[in-house]
Amino acid sequence: MSRELIFATNNLHKLEEIQSIIGDSFVLKSLQQIGFNEDIPETAPTLEGNALLKAQHIFNIYGKNCFADDTGLEIEALDGRPGVFSARYATDGHDFEANIDKVLYELTGKENRKARFRTVIALILDGSTYTFDGRVSGEIITERRGSAGFGYDPVFLPDGYSFTFAEMPLEEKNKISHRALAVNKLVGFLKSK
Ligand code: IMP
Repeated sequence: MSRELIFATNNLHKLEEIQSIIGDSFVLKSLQQIGFNEDIPETAPTLEGNALLKAQHIFNIYGKNCFADDTGLEIEALDGRPGVFSARYATDGHDFEANIDKVLYELTGKENRKARFRTVIALILDGSTYTFDGRVSGEIITERRGSAGFGYDPVFLPDGYSFTFAEMPLEEKNKISHRALAVNKLVGFLKSK
């Protein structure tokens, strides 16, 4: 029998993608589908903290199994920034272009351009809490390349590749991305349940 699992997101693309990997033992529900239409404040100082905060918030209200994710770009020479502030690094909104400009400006003249994307998923299942993380290392190049993807993709060159995330077909990015690695860990765990 299928078990219901809430994914604390309204990003239906992410939800469908994860649902297709999980198969039919769990049926995912978005926040909108369970009638939750507020913003959950992401006030924790870490990705783990924010993922846990979102999952806990929904569990406290609905008492149902759920999970949440949070992702950030961590740049070594910037002491891990933008990190938890990746979505709102330059402005309050999700201004991808301004965020990239700010990162490129802050890296001006720096030799070390190493960076990684990291996704953390927090799961609350049958009253216990679990976290899963996925990471992909690479470097921030000096100019944008490519038009696919979103966020910092045009300036992120994954290690071992000559294409930025924005120059890769989505299927290729999905094989190696931080999000895919974290989701695979989550799915592996859920399949064992
Ligand atoms: P979220 O936690 O998935 O909403 O991601 C937070 C922010 O990190 C996004 O607004 C993007 O700026 C950035 N980000 C997350 N995943 C990616 C990615 O795969 N490529 C580029 N940027 C990303």
